Amino acid sequence: MLQEHLNNLHDFASHRPALIEAEVNWIHSEILQEGPSRILDLCCGPGFHLQNLAVLGHQCTGVDFSPASIKYARAQKRPLASPSYIEANILTADIPNNIDLVMIMFGQFDTFSPENQIHILKKACNSLKPGSLLLLEIHSLGQVHGMGTSTSTSRRLDEGLFSDDPHSLFTQNYWYEETRTAVQEWTVIQEGRRPVMYRTTTRAQDSKQFELLLKSADFELVDWYDRWGHAVDVGKYVAGYHILVAAKLK
Ligand SMILES: C[S@@+](CC[C@H](N)C(=O)[O-])C[C@H]1O[C@@H](n2cnc3c(N)ncnc32)[C@H](O)[C@@H]1O
Repeated sequence: MLQEHLNNLHDFASHRPALIEAEVNWIHSEILQEGPSRILDLCCGPGFHLQNLAVLGHQCTGVDFSPASIKYARAQKRPLASPSYIEANILTADIPNNIDLVMIMFGQFDTFSPENQIHILKKACNSLKPGSLLLLEIHSLGQVHGMGTSTSTSRRLDEGLFSDDPHSLFTQNYWYEETRTAVQEWTVIQEGRRPVMYRTTTRAQDSKQFELLLKSADFELVDWYDRWGHAVDVGKYVAGYHILVAAKLK
């Protein structure tokens, strides 16, 4: 998985460096108004956003349960501004408080169950200073629909996301219109090993659903943006991610 994060030719696990840089610059100038801030990135992966934000003068902490990603992130030390990292499940981790901005990027929030989404928002709220901000990068409805309705495939690979050795990879996708949920299943078949199946569930929610969700965790919606910081109509079938910014109620 770490190799896929580090691969600059695709966006499977993380955005490419140019997109991350654009997001970070936008967060720094538009969301944080260039003020030095305490930032917490939940599901930070190898820490690409935080490494760039730390260089801009922010004090950054990342949480991720992937040992390889955290090891990589910790190895990217810079003399003046190194983020700190916690290797843990965000659902159970002790997270720091007095934070100015909590962020969850790359649509990871959409993959948690409704109960865990509320739990995560409440934890985020507890860690924030009153009036400070939550930033969620959310899959658009078009993206989730695309995931759930893509054609199933079968491929023979020398190595890939799920194995470093030669294997067959069967991908099946399902779309549940009523709940606007995509399920993606990958079955890995490798000589001499038992087949292994991986599954992700990604749910699209409209702005009304997000407003209710945010309210239940003491946040109020500030605005929706597309990845480049332009206002966006979240109900439409548009490709790409949206960014939701909410403020902790005082
Ligand atoms: C798609 S990657 C995105 C990484 C990073 N935010 C980025 O944009 O490059 C999602 C990350 O979420 C992490 N993750 C998923 N569920 C998690 C959980 N419950 N606790 C901690 N990390 C989690 C995975 O290990 C993975 O690194």
